Amino acid sequence: MDIDAKIAELRAAFEEDAARLSPDRLRARYVGRQGRVRDLFGLLRSLPPEEKGSAGRKLNDLKAELEERLRGLQEDRPALPAVGKTDLTLPGRAPEPGRRHPIYRTWDEIVGVFTRLGFDVVYGPEIETEQNNFEALNIPLEHPSRDAFDTFYLERPHLLRSHTSPVQIRTMRERRPPIRVIAPGKVFRPDTPDASHSPQFHQVEGLMVGPGVTFAQLKGVLDLFVKAMWGPEIRTRFRPSFFPFTEPSAEVDVSCFICGAKGCPACKQSGWMEILGSGMVHPKVLENCGIDPEENTGFAFGMGIERICMLKYGIPDIRLFTENRFAFLRQF
Ligand code: DAH
Repeated sequence: MDIDAKIAELRAAFEEDAARLSPDRLRARYVGRQGRVRDLFGLLRSLPPEEKGSAGRKLNDLKAELEERLRGLQEDRPALPAVGKTDLTLPGRAPEPGRRHPIYRTWDEIVGVFTRLGFDVVYGPEIETEQNNFEALNIPLEHPSRDAFDTFYLERPHLLRSHTSPVQIRTMRERRPPIRVIAPGKVFRPDTPDASHSPQFHQVEGLMVGPGVTFAQLKGVLDLFVKAMWGPEIRTRFRPSFFPFTEPSAEVDVSCFICGAKGCPACKQSGWMEILGSGMVHPKVLENCGIDPEENTGFAFGMGIERICMLKYGIPDIRLFTENRFAFLRQF
């Protein structure tokens, strides 16, 4: 063993570490009781007796040399007004409190408006049957939303629900009218993500069924909802539309709260922004759930929580909700 080579090697390693380790850590690593100089002393045993003396002296010199270097390094450090090893001048590390995700804030806000109007909150499973997601809602086999490209199918007859409307079916099979519920939850569609599409998002479904429920009540309830969300000056507009599970059906727009309905890029110059789908529950849907459409009528609506949240806060891209960017999330 070449003791001189070992010493040179260790000295080089020490200088390299001196550039990045604190004197205390350097000391522990090199001259401490389990340090590298100590390891070299251990090697003495394997030397022939006539070499032991001079090698031992060299190691003692090395140890003294490194200790001297360490004293120098220690003195180079600025004096700290420290207590023991704690630097009391360092700023504290404040724990960052968690906060509610904007989607769930909006969820709570929507649910809050409807519970104050007397709606119960109900939930359905994210794995649904084809029956509840489509058939019972009067969505025919040839409807495009039933295509494999538009729905995540599991093993037949199961799938990931593509909307919260199947919770209408579950509720009407479990409860008798009068029924007044909202159902928030996750929904899934195999869409390629872009600024306005995401394979998973959230909806809130609303349903009111009983003797004499009217379209006028639907308009009244949704108008109240819109004013609670965006302010008393906001107006609603009902546009004729089509959904297989409602008749008549309407899409609901709110007057653009950015430009005051004058026309701006946010509302594509139209003065209106679409927020949800709605209508009177189709008699066939009531029948599918064992409710007599001669005695009861109902209204239903469904809205995307992401969409409502984006419109409320002016969020330009749906992907921001799932990217975990603190700069974005901290604003809520
Ligand atoms: N389920 C529809 C969708 O996901 C939204 C919808 C439209 C729900 C009209 C309703 C309704 O309850 O009445 O696009």
